[in-house]
Amino acid sequence: MQPHSRTDLPLRIYLIGYMGSGKSSVGIKLAHCIGFNFADTDQRIESEQGLSIAQIFDQYGEGHFRQLEKAQITKTFGEFQVVVSTGGGAPCYETNMAGMLQNGTVIYLRNRPETLATRLEHEKNHRPLLRGKDLLPLITEGLRIREPVYRQAHMIVDCDNLDINTIAQQIKNSFSSC
Ligand code: S3P
Repeated sequence: MQPHSRTDLPLRIYLIGYMGSGKSSVGIKLAHCIGFNFADTDQRIESEQGLSIAQIFDQYGEGHFRQLEKAQITKTFGEFQVVVSTGGGAPCYETNMAGMLQNGTVIYLRNRPETLATRLEHEKNHRPLLRGKDLLPLITEGLRIREPVYRQAHMIVDCDNLDINTIAQQIKNSFSSC
């Protein structure tokens, strides 16, 4: 295997996947490993709006949130050397997925619904789309609808049973020109 070189890296790396798939934790780790900036579209929306994602959903509705999300994703097309962690629904709305595929390398962090349901159970009340719901059937159905889009990613990483460091390392290694 040849040593890793920065020139193997794309300008932008987009992490996609269902809520709870580890996009933000992996993104921070990966960005650190490869010397890229890190951007989280949800965090950017929250800091620009001065509201939590849940408050935006409650006060303005999901349609408004999707417009803000699209604007944040579009903004990243003008950034360089950045790992972008996207919201779970982002690839499935507007032209976001096509834009990300065109402007960077898109990586789907895939997890089984059981893994996601266990991970999300304790925080579901803070998440507007999960509040008060029975998670396993909701996630199973959500993935059935979203997976055809997620699967268009340039790369799929099966994350069940892998820790954050291993996932970030796998992604990093995939960019070396061996
Ligand atoms: C959403 C996922 C959330 C957030 C919003 C909607 C979704 O992001 O964007 O609550 O539609 O799956 P995370 O996947 O980062 O939790």
